Amino acid sequence: MVFFAALKNLFSRRDKRTSNASSLRSKKKGLSYSNGSQQNNSNRSAAANSPSNSTTNNSSNNGHSFQFKDGRRYHGDSEVAYVLPNDDDEADRVHQQHWILRYALQCNYQAPVTEMLEKGITVLDSGCGPATWTFEMGEAWPNSTFHGIDASCVFPENIKPANVEFVLGNIAKRIPYPDNTFDYIHQRLLLLGLTNEDWDNALKELYRVLKPGGYIEVSEPDLQDLENMGPTLRKLQYTMSDMLKSRNMPNKVACEIEDRLIKAGFVNTKLNMTPLKLNHTDKAGKLLWDDYKHGYMNVRPVMALIVPEWQDTEVYERFVDACGIEAEKNKVNVNWYACYAQKPA
Ligand SMILES: C[S@@+](CC[C@H](N)C(=O)[O-])C[C@H]1O[C@@H](n2cnc3c(N)ncnc32)[C@H](O)[C@@H]1O
Repeated sequence: MVFFAALKNLFSRRDKRTSNASSLRSKKKGLSYSNGSQQNNSNRSAAANSPSNSTTNNSSNNGHSFQFKDGRRYHGDSEVAYVLPNDDDEADRVHQQHWILRYALQCNYQAPVTEMLEKGITVLDSGCGPATWTFEMGEAWPNSTFHGIDASCVFPENIKPANVEFVLGNIAKRIPYPDNTFDYIHQRLLLLGLTNEDWDNALKELYRVLKPGGYIEVSEPDLQDLENMGPTLRKLQYTMSDMLKSRNMPNKVACEIEDRLIKAGFVNTKLNMTPLKLNHTDKAGKLLWDDYKHGYMNVRPVMALIVPEWQDTEVYERFVDACGIEAEKNKVNVNWYACYAQKPA
């Protein structure tokens, strides 16, 4: 109940489509590292305190398999390419990232679905993670029904609003819903989870489960080319690109979303690009940097496969900190791409 009460508290000052700074601050406070979500998410809690010094160790919780490496918990599905951990620390980062993005973008979605949500539609959050977006939208639009799908059971299974459901699944294999189920599909930040083939398969599946005339919205940041970056950030960003390419993952998927949606058969595409301040000018810039650094620290093990000296956490952290200083000095921006489209009616 602590978890639900904390979430209710977080939702209480929310505007339906946009947010404001005080709301963001209250949510950030509510989602600090000691919040109730850690104590009450039964899926995560059993496995979250992973074996601290193991290299690889398989475990299972409620039938879901996990893998442990160097004290971090990862998904245990060999067919899922996702490189980030799925433990409490990463879930907290993803929660905070949601509030930061909502504040920076001033919205939770860009597709023209507000009237539909008000009336009551069926929505899929593809790769929902710990489901901050799904929960907030479920609470905001009680006439609509929200389904979250994720390859890891990081979503809350037991305590949730009545109009929110979750299912475990790999979106690049089969999405376990019949054809033409959803009126609106939302997918955000899957860039570290899908290979080139996975993107093709996932978009094919999303096309299948979307109703004719329904909307899909996909958003990603360009993680390779930041505005105004200098040599330090360039090394970090291009190492990220090399890491992705070494896994057959697209390194500039944000810039390809529209083409990929068209290739999958969607029509009426509308692409918006928003530059987000990284570690400069205001609170939003600082908060985005906090998230950026946290994400980069969590992805260190695979970055160190490209730059071996980054096996040393302290060396790596010093490098990432230098990137933060460069971002502040150069007024670096991350370009956020959001594209929505329709399945032909
Ligand atoms: C960075 S989180 C983003 C979560 C959420 N979309 C958000 O924006 O807050 C990426 C999520 O995608 C999930 N994911 C990665 N590959 C997947 C796949 N093939 N099928 C389903 N989920 C996947 C991961 O488990 C993780 O929870």
